[in-house]
Amino acid sequence: MANVSQIEHSLLSHHMTRIRDVKSDTLVFRQSIQVIGELLAYETLRTLDTKSEPIHTPLAAHDGRSVCERVALVPILRAGLALVDPFIRMLPHASVLHLGMYRDEKTTTPVWYYNKLDEDLTDITAFVLDPMLATGGSLIAAIDELKSRGAGRIRVASIIAAPEGIDAVTGAHPDVEINVCEVDSHLNDAAFIVPGLGDAGDRYFGTAQ
Ligand code: PRP
Repeated sequence: MANVSQIEHSLLSHHMTRIRDVKSDTLVFRQSIQVIGELLAYETLRTLDTKSEPIHTPLAAHDGRSVCERVALVPILRAGLALVDPFIRMLPHASVLHLGMYRDEKTTTPVWYYNKLDEDLTDITAFVLDPMLATGGSLIAAIDELKSRGAGRIRVASIIAAPEGIDAVTGAHPDVEINVCEVDSHLNDAAFIVPGLGDAGDRYFGTAQ
């Protein structure tokens, strides 16, 4: 799939099984999401631009390198919040710009309730964080909003995606790269990912389903 990268790692397989398992409680779910988030951050941030940074080690001069992109993490509330800490552990200087939207249960279209994006995003690289890519409606709305404020470099980090959602996002925004841990079979009649893991926000925050 163009612009879609999947991660392969034994630890990822292990923790993906933990978050999918209906028997996993909130504690196990949170612990495994954090490990998955770090593996996802490691891969998604792999190609950040770096610049030369000459330094001295205790023994000699050395031509080092440092990350030179201005990065903004853009979590889609609520479930996207689960990915913020693992990404910040990899990139402590990143800004965090929150977007709040939930999916209407009947129409499956996103409903906005919060937007903390800067007005001008022209010189930042935005990483949109959302564990679940189902129909793609939420991500498309988020990317539309980022582009309307000038963001030119946008990437998506997601844990589980449905093929239908990937097609929708890459169709609407072919320039946006998607990093995903696993791609599932399909969406069911309620637009839930199958086999999926259920409702990521409810399982991460321990709220009633
Ligand atoms: C879920 C999920 C995504 C969205 C995916 O959020 O976290 O944001 O649905 O669906 P889509 O690709 O069809 O748009 P939800 O509406 O359950 O809100 P929550 O994170 O607050 O639980």
